[in-house]
Amino acid sequence: MDLAAERVSVRFGGLMANEDVSLAVAPGEVLGLIGPNGAGKTTLVNILSGFQRPHAGSVRLAGRDMTGLKPAAFAQAGIVRTFQAVRLFPRLTVAENVEVGLVARGMRRTAARREALAMLADLELQHCAALTASALSYGEERRVGLARALALEPRFLLLDEPAAGLASAEAEKLKRSIIAIRDRCGCGILVIEHNMALVMSLCDRVHVLGGGRTIAAGLPDEIRIDPAVRTAYLGSTAA
Ligand SMILES: Nc1ncnc2c1ncn2[C@@H]1O[C@H](COP(=O)(O)OP(=O)(O)O)[C@@H](O)[C@H]1O
Ligand SMILES: [Mg+2]
Repeated sequence: MDLAAERVSVRFGGLMANEDVSLAVAPGEVLGLIGPNGAGKTTLVNILSGFQRPHAGSVRLAGRDMTGLKPAAFAQAGIVRTFQAVRLFPRLTVAENVEVGLVARGMRRTAARREALAMLADLELQHCAALTASALSYGEERRVGLARALALEPRFLLLDEPAAGLASAEAEKLKRSIIAIRDRCGCGILVIEHNMALVMSLCDRVHVLGGGRTIAAGLPDEIRIDPAVRTAYLGSTAA
């Protein structure tokens, strides 16, 4: 049932952005993907969502070979990714922004409204439901982006630095929203994140990349004390 990269390599000219990387996300788990800038984290998310084709290795969803399929096929299979910039419809209300996704999946208007409000409540965004998207704070906008992703009923959700630029109180809310999504839909979540305290308290397991290769993988407590991880981060802000 996993979403898995198997021995994936990606080359850009002479640079190996990913080299022989294997990783699997299980339904219902939050997997953290960390590593210094340029480690190959975004490239791996691109691979897992069909935006980048590996030069070697494969991508499997519940055993099915997805390698080489288009992003639309990955989306259709329930793999939802977010990008750094959230793009909401600025003139629609927050509730409508979420409803759009539900209606697109075939839900009737009234049911979609009810479902959207329930999702917003789960993400502590009920107070925003009637606001237009342009009236949101940055932190709220990010979490509405998550609500929209949730409306797509992901089997797997891939989040590329969702907390980037958030103050700690907002980052904490974002963390609760990620857990609420996991609990609500049971999807597997892969999250790239630089804030170590957030990673350690949010994730069930952590995978560490350095220079395109896997340098460690394990439980947060194991990763925290792993000598190879410490070396990779030496001199960087993460500790
Ligand atoms: N489309 C591309 N063309 C050329 N080089 C790229 C491309 N995408 C990423 N890279 C390079 O691959 C390496 C890994 O990038 P990336 O996956 O974005 O790292 P991270 O997300 O961990 O910061 C970096 O050296 C980056 O410059
Ligand atoms: Mg990146």
